[in-house]
Amino acid sequence: MTLKDYLKKAQKQKFAIGQFNFSTLEQLRGILAAARKMKSPVILGTSEEESKFLGLEEILALVEISKMKYKVSAFLNLDHGKDLDYIKKAIDFGYSAVHFDGSDLSLEKNMKYAKRIVEYAHKKGVLVEGEIDNIKEKSLTSPDKAKRFIEQTKVDSLAMAIGSAHGMYKNPKLDFERLKQIKENTNVFLVLHGGSGIPDMQIKKAIKLGINKININTELRLAWKGTLAKSLKSQEVKPYKILPQAQKAVQHKVEEKIEVFNSKNKL
Ligand code: G3H
Ligand code: ZN
Repeated sequence: MTLKDYLKKAQKQKFAIGQFNFSTLEQLRGILAAARKMKSPVILGTSEEESKFLGLEEILALVEISKMKYKVSAFLNLDHGKDLDYIKKAIDFGYSAVHFDGSDLSLEKNMKYAKRIVEYAHKKGVLVEGEIDNIKEKSLTSPDKAKRFIEQTKVDSLAMAIGSAHGMYKNPKLDFERLKQIKENTNVFLVLHGGSGIPDMQIKKAIKLGINKININTELRLAWKGTLAKSLKSQEVKPYKILPQAQKAVQHKVEEKIEVFNSKNKL
């Protein structure tokens, strides 16, 4: 099954596929081990910076080999791509999907570039996620604007502002009424960014109302760093004795999220 098939399945069966970001081998292994244990499809996210750190060549090689080793359905997505040439590079390298984040641009420019990326990506069977209304800003997405953006660009998925933000923050509150209206107004896959720290009940409700993909990064980074910091306090110097705990911590966090996203046993 392709990523599109899984997203369609998620739409029909009301679950969400997690996008879990990584930039190190133990993070990647933690995510894949969780996906295998839970029998869940996963999206492997790398931002431009994350992918530049690990290198597109290494990422593709690692993911291809690991998919066979772990026997999982895992798909690479370039997360928050802003540089058009770099996005094209990720497509050429074999990413299954790319997220073009033109939310800092004017709507006209955002649509113009998103359309360009869609034309390039679709020729190669790669999915494109567009984004409107930067979630850093306070203004939330209007359903009409979402509709117009989708019609103009033909993106496959849409990231929009419904009250979430990147990182851990106080009192996350999703605007469910807005999400409902956006869902009624559109027919693409709907993506929730800034998934870290949102209470499970809100996540479940958002999935019920039409969210198909949820991005999680900060919570995995915190699990990785917290565990690593503890391990580094001992006298141990062997990386293969230090890193497995961090890998396990990432795995547990991903398992928790898969449970909440209801993507368990959905292969
Ligand atoms: O694109 C990545 C996500 O939106 C991550 O957000 O760090 O709040 O989990 P998060
Ligand atoms: Zn994001």
